[in-house]
Amino acid sequence: MVSTSSTTDNGRALTERFSTLITNIGELVTNDPEAADLLGVVDDAALVVEGSAVAWVGRAADAPAADERVDVGGRAVLPGFVDSHSHLVFAGDRAQEFAARMAGESYAAGGIRTTVAATRAATDEQLTSHVAHLVAEMRAQGTTTVEIKSGYGLSVRDEARSLAVARQFTEETTFLGAHVVPEGVTPEEYVALVTGPMLEAAAPYARWIDVFCERGAFDADQARAVLEAGAARGLRGRLHANQLGPGPGVRLAAELGLVAVDHCTYLDDADVDALRESGTIATLLPGVEFSTRQPYPDARRLLDAGVRVALASDCNPGSCFTSSLPLCIALAVREMGMTPAEAVHAATSMGARALDRDDVGALVPGRRADLMILDAPTHVHLAYRPGVPLVRGVWLAGRPL
Ligand code: NIG
Ligand code: FE
Repeated sequence: MVSTSSTTDNGRALTERFSTLITNIGELVTNDPEAADLLGVVDDAALVVEGSAVAWVGRAADAPAADERVDVGGRAVLPGFVDSHSHLVFAGDRAQEFAARMAGESYAAGGIRTTVAATRAATDEQLTSHVAHLVAEMRAQGTTTVEIKSGYGLSVRDEARSLAVARQFTEETTFLGAHVVPEGVTPEEYVALVTGPMLEAAAPYARWIDVFCERGAFDADQARAVLEAGAARGLRGRLHANQLGPGPGVRLAAELGLVAVDHCTYLDDADVDALRESGTIATLLPGVEFSTRQPYPDARRLLDAGVRVALASDCNPGSCFTSSLPLCIALAVREMGMTPAEAVHAATSMGARALDRDDVGALVPGRRADLMILDAPTHVHLAYRPGVPLVRGVWLAGRPL
């Protein structure tokens, strides 16, 4: 889209925004919070983009004129996916570890150290081009906002440069120095490093701070110490919790009032109550259970209890190497008791809320015009046609990619 400048009679510069009418939309998912239905669906719809934002949505028959007209031939249009959990900065792969799992081995957090060695050995250029490749993969599958964590550096230098690489692709960067304790240091020494010099080096490049709170990684006291140090440095907290077994992480996230806690696979009733009462979003990552052959989290139980649920990819080389939110939606519907509408909402609107973003995740006037055009008449096809590349077009901030 082109923005042009002009001058008024009194000489004041104005920006005239180029406008585009996207019309003949068979089904428009707006995620309008005012709508009666969860997705705010408008049939036979149109949408006007002005500059980088949505300017108008409604029935095609009522659409205003615009500078340009794009006919999408009855296809469905949805807000771009907001993937609130990924680990894209790494080198190497762990295909053999996956193959061994599929032959009966179980997943263990210790595999992370394999990726740490490869990541430390990679150049900045190699890391950057690998992230670019994965972000392009995500975009092609409808993701328009992505959060990216560090966590495969685990040294002051390698965590800071991982975040500097991530920052080239997104503002949603997360310092995950507390992923596992690397070889050669005690847990106490490592927590002191993470909360001290590593945090200092990482903070300029990070918006969030995260801890893998799990047996074999960090306990609740260590997680609390890391999150508190991050908060004192201006970073907002999120947690990996209750992924591999029951544990204290979900309740800690609720107690601290974190915006989101991720995985939530093993929950007891007190965890569910704590999530409902705190409003902390449970971000479910079904690609992980697919790739580790663990039981899926019970999304139905959470939704029925009034817990807010988001879906994200967790794209990483160990527990889940998919960049596809359409796959996660299909799994959530088939394996976790979500309806197609709930799953799409969780991967768009709730992903945005899990990043505390109110500019993305919906197609209503004022929001950023991040959207996907599906080669399908309805969002339901994302689950109904699993594995089929349905995303035909993606627009980012009002421009087609
Ligand atoms: O989110 N849970 C911790 N971290 C990643 C897995 C990392 C790895 O195995 O390399 C996750 O699943
Ligand atoms: Fe993760």
